[in-house]
Amino acid sequence: MTGDRLSGRGNTKGLKLAKIVLGIGTSHGPQLSTPPNEWGQRVEADRNRPDHPFRESTYTFDELVALRAGENLSSEITLDVWEKKYDACMTAIERLAEVFHAVKPDVAIIMGNDQRELFQEDNNPAFCVFHGDKIVHRPATEVQVASMPPGIAVSMGGYSPPEDREYDGVPDLGDHMVRCLMENGFDVGVSNKVPTAAARNSGIPHAFGFVYRQIMKDAVVPNVPLFQNTFFPPNQPTAKRCFEFGQAVHAAIESWESDKTVAVIASGGLSHFVIDAELDRRVLDAMQRNDFEELTAIPEVLYQSGTSETKNWIGAAGILAASGLKMALVDYIPCYRSEGGTGTAMAFATWR
Ligand SMILES: [Fe+2]
Repeated sequence: MTGDRLSGRGNTKGLKLAKIVLGIGTSHGPQLSTPPNEWGQRVEADRNRPDHPFRESTYTFDELVALRAGENLSSEITLDVWEKKYDACMTAIERLAEVFHAVKPDVAIIMGNDQRELFQEDNNPAFCVFHGDKIVHRPATEVQVASMPPGIAVSMGGYSPPEDREYDGVPDLGDHMVRCLMENGFDVGVSNKVPTAAARNSGIPHAFGFVYRQIMKDAVVPNVPLFQNTFFPPNQPTAKRCFEFGQAVHAAIESWESDKTVAVIASGGLSHFVIDAELDRRVLDAMQRNDFEELTAIPEVLYQSGTSETKNWIGAAGILAASGLKMALVDYIPCYRSEGGTGTAMAFATWR
């Protein structure tokens, strides 16, 4: 679809149309809401995982340590380094929050993913548009906290509010977007209510909760959550498809008959739970150069596990490509937590 003209609805009566005024990309890993002296907690889970995807293969933790022995990663896992990196991440997040509040968009489109928080194996859409009028966001229950893997409970405040909350969706834009997407070759799933019965469920998933809490600082503007199944085989959309999905979302936003200003926010990534800084730099450089051929040429095998959330940035880049806004990298901070190179590489960017 890249290069084809996408049809939007509306714009037939000289009415005012919505305008994209801001883009934001943010990582959302647990280390961003975990004190640095606790970053090591997740290493237990890293050691227990038998199949860490990294580059074109999978490895045990011990195999990763051997494979990456030449990178001197032990120098990355001192408390001093962790504190400096944590501070740099906090500075970058504050910068994104400042920009968001200075621009004051009327509504937001958030490109995120679900990690078995809402969608389970019995029903998992490749793309899903939330077009409901209310978004439920709530803290994890005590039972949920007790069943969390190591190092997650400590980070929950970064994603979940202290009490049950409800935010406004944008059903008008959501409906319009679904119709546009269907016309433009994306037969999307839809949801008009955040299901609240799933075992791990705390309302809207953490990809979105992180944005509400850390970027919007709880002053949540009406928003349309867009779900891409980046994580779970077999129906993960390719990077190329995510980019084209973004282009189709762009056509929908800019043909929405509304005087609203719109922010586009990508949540997730970059490489984790094994950091691949070479891949991250390649993605970020391609995005900054608007080199979408390069961006979508990266082999799919590299986008597995948490690294797959990079596709939320690629989808957002598809929305923002024709917006006239320019990407600026605020920071890129590979937050290693073990000598195997596990951790999360954090990236923060704006499009203005
Ligand atoms: Fe995530």
